[in-house]
Amino acid sequence: MRDIFPLFSSPIQLAHMLWEKLLGKDDMVIDATMGNGKDTLKLAQILSNCGSGRVIALDIQPKALENTLSLLRENIPEFLQNIELLLTSHENFPSQILPGSVKLIVYNLGYLPGADKELTTQTGTTLLSIENALKLIAPGGALSITCYPGHAEGQKEHEAIKAFVKDRDLREYCVSEHTWPSRNLSPILLLIQKSN
Ligand SMILES: C[S@@+](CC[C@H](N)C(=O)[O-])C[C@H]1O[C@@H](n2cnc3c(N)ncnc32)[C@H](O)[C@@H]1O
Repeated sequence: MRDIFPLFSSPIQLAHMLWEKLLGKDDMVIDATMGNGKDTLKLAQILSNCGSGRVIALDIQPKALENTLSLLRENIPEFLQNIELLLTSHENFPSQILPGSVKLIVYNLGYLPGADKELTTQTGTTLLSIENALKLIAPGGALSITCYPGHAEGQKEHEAIKAFVKDRDLREYCVSEHTWPSRNLSPILLLIQKSN
């Protein structure tokens, strides 16, 4: 698909392009839903190309950590020392991360492809996590949230995130959403950028 369109053909590709534009040397980033590690790898590759940086990735499934570690070992072994993989739920960001110190926090919501669909992200914990993420994000940083309204919990989660951003005083943020009008129930990319 990628080669026949000039810019991108999926929300993930669009997200990756925006991360490339945002990130720079020595940035700290968090992948709040590690899954099979494709996003963690992309973040690591971007930071490695920038010269340095730190990636923290979280998931509740041991299988996600296993898969991600082997993907990273295969593709970017020289950067492994800059990456921390944590088996924990994403409302529990490590307490040593200082408020305002993280350039980008990434969510790719839903369930681990090829695994138990019951282990999907849940609206309640996702909202708690986003609330905590907003405290950690650096000026000029962003949250990148890919939502999957094609399944019941994903639809609830997407609606709840939209209501959450609407209800809050987000004067120092720019919230935007990229949808795909020609594709029914396609994933949606939501961005929350913090002003400089
Ligand atoms: C769509 S997958 C992520 C895909 C991944 N970013 C990739 O590139 O392969 C969603 C992941 O969120 C994880 N997840 C579900 N609830 C979570 C929670 N409370 N905290 C952290 N991760 C969670 C699931 O285990 C699953 O691996």
